[in-house]
Amino acid sequence: MTDAKKLFIKTYGCQMNVYDSERMVEALAGEGYVTTDVVEEADMVLLNTCHIREKASEKLYSDLGRLRPLKTAKPGLKIGVAGCVAQAEGAEIQRRMPLVDLVVGPQSYHRLPAMLRGDAPAVETDFPAEDKFDLLPERRGTARPAAFLTVQEGCDKFCAFCVVPYTRGSEVSRPVDRILTEARLLVAKGVREITLLGQNVNAYHADGWGLARLLRALAQVEGLERLRYTTSHPNDMEDDLIAAHGDEPKLMPYLHLPVQSGSDRILKAMNRKHTAEAYLRIVDRIRTVRPDILLSSDFIVGFPGETDADFEATLALIRAVGYGMAYTFKYSARPGTPAAEKPEIPPEIADSRLHMLQGLITTQQRAAQDAMVGREVSVLYEKPGRMPGQMMGKSDHLHAVHVGDSAGRVGEIVRVRISASSSNSLAGVRISE
Ligand code: SAH
Ligand code: SF4
Ligand code: F3S
Repeated sequence: MTDAKKLFIKTYGCQMNVYDSERMVEALAGEGYVTTDVVEEADMVLLNTCHIREKASEKLYSDLGRLRPLKTAKPGLKIGVAGCVAQAEGAEIQRRMPLVDLVVGPQSYHRLPAMLRGDAPAVETDFPAEDKFDLLPERRGTARPAAFLTVQEGCDKFCAFCVVPYTRGSEVSRPVDRILTEARLLVAKGVREITLLGQNVNAYHADGWGLARLLRALAQVEGLERLRYTTSHPNDMEDDLIAAHGDEPKLMPYLHLPVQSGSDRILKAMNRKHTAEAYLRIVDRIRTVRPDILLSSDFIVGFPGETDADFEATLALIRAVGYGMAYTFKYSARPGTPAAEKPEIPPEIADSRLHMLQGLITTQQRAAQDAMVGREVSVLYEKPGRMPGQMMGKSDHLHAVHVGDSAGRVGEIVRVRISASSSNSLAGVRISE
């Protein structure tokens, strides 16, 4: 009997990369690879990278540097770079780091097995004519009850700061029947919650269907109890999608709707194509149909030209919305993007704005969490808790919840009374039916 080959995979960046990593693992299973968490045991190391900010992409090179002794000790070790840095830098990665055997972009990773066999070039960063999803093996399913499902890729929005339109290509939506088939497969393997993914998921358009219709069709899949989607652009929040938040019970009351800034001047310079006012109107409409929805957003501080007044406008927008959660980033100039041509603001100003922004967000996040105490929520158990007799899961509002429940099983959805709120999670007790 030959031992299975071992694959060590590390994923950086967004949920789309998490999904792609799962699909790569599945594709490589066909070549006899099983995953390992111990890098020293690996026959292949795959780094699935992110290019969004300078720090994210530089991580690749420090990780590759750390792999050098391992490669020297084990010359047969294959090292592959996948994801958005692979797409952006291509063969340059191998020039800078000759220990890299393979470079594969996010649209070409179905070719990994052929690349490993030497039947395809070692650098694959074209946007191929074929659809990778048609050529990848069927989903094996996961051991987890909450899964991701990519329905849309790419971006045509070209925000002035962002590399995604270049690394992921233009907007493409997967056909409805493939998505329904994949969802049914996942559910058959024990999945109860699916988060639909796309760089612009609410720009989904295939077979004459938009995202709202797709969500409603998925809601009919028996055994699928919860639906979410991410990430949305405010300009694609169409009427029927907003309506679905009001009348589709399986659509969970949490929405990530990035705005980036509260200043119209900066929004314009960012090429966001909406104003702060237009964003607030959308928020109002969503809250009219679903008053308890938790909203989250991404914010960039220190965009070129951002003044104190612009930053104040961002703080004002955050106060007006009241977020349940938000990600805050310091602007990072990215090669090839229009904003990278503009003079940057002093880093210490950006740092202090980031600090203030994070303070405000943390306060709002904590308030939203504390407001759950005493309430009854539903929780999908994802794993056993750290303490015996405890389960760990996510509420409908996506809060992490520790539940005292000695009979709980992973995959169950239970009613829970929230009893306490701590810095990053809630605690509660199962309500017996
Ligand atoms: N498609 C999604 C997410 C894109 S990347 C969307 O449009 O919302 C995730 C977040 O990274 C963005 O929302 C933005 O806040 C941040 N980001 C993107 N480019 C950046 C840059 N150059 N510097 C700092 N943050 C950036
Ligand atoms: Fe980037 Fe803007 Fe597209 Fe989001 S919408 S991926 S921020 S270009
Ligand atoms: Fe990063 Fe690419 Fe996602 S740049 S955020 S991994 S789309």
